[in-house]
Amino acid sequence: MININNRLKTVASFVLESDAKFIIDVGCDHALLDIYLFQCSDKLKIVASDINEGPLLKAEENLLKYSCFNKIKLEKADGISNINDNTDTIIISGMGMENIIKILTQDKSNISNVKRLIISSNNKYEILRFKICNLGFYINKEKIIYEDGKYYIIIEFIKGNSKYTKKEFYFGPCLLKNKDKLFYEYYLEMKNIKEQILNSIPIVYKEKRKLLIKEIKMLILETS
Ligand SMILES: C[S@@+](CC[C@H](N)C(=O)[O-])C[C@H]1O[C@@H](n2cnc3c(N)ncnc32)[C@H](O)[C@@H]1O
Repeated sequence: MININNRLKTVASFVLESDAKFIIDVGCDHALLDIYLFQCSDKLKIVASDINEGPLLKAEENLLKYSCFNKIKLEKADGISNINDNTDTIIISGMGMENIIKILTQDKSNISNVKRLIISSNNKYEILRFKICNLGFYINKEKIIYEDGKYYIIIEFIKGNSKYTKKEFYFGPCLLKNKDKLFYEYYLEMKNIKEQILNSIPIVYKEKRKLLIKEIKMLILETS
């Protein structure tokens, strides 16, 4: 079995615990996630795609090395411009929020048949949740992981609607429901960062400080 990091294993577990059949991994880079998925379930139809030549060459080498060259389809594409009608699951992992949203909104008809998005953003989870839910998805599953000195949140969105409060967009509705050890660690770290920012903002910026104090109070409330 190919060895992949904990973050990618969590992304893979979201796929394997679902009824996903036709997957596109956008920004596959080395395609290690796709090889792992194929090794876990040879029933999955996987397209691994990337916009850049370098990652695709690396991916090709890995597919050959792990004997799955004919099993995983490798494609060069910008975002989901190459998506086919059967695709039920899009994975976008290891990118920033802006790029993820840009990819998903390039051409909205591209996601009209898609049932599930599995997203591992590098940042800005509150805006990410808000924007993806506004595209007609709800949040089905979330997990925080800690790897190499950084926290990541992996989120599964499913086609459909649900209403969320500001607090739920901020903390994650599923994370908030099942507060685990990593929830406390991550949001306590966030609180400390916000307090440091607050201390660096001069008193004259009243509005900015007021908003930050409100956020810190919310973080204290949910982590105590
Ligand atoms: C940091 S790597 C992430 C690799 C892997 N998905 C992971 O989670 O570890 C980001 C990859 O996304 C690709 N990428 C960035 N923008 C893209 C786009 N618009 N369409 C397809 N791939 C893109 C980059 O070429 C790069 O290989």
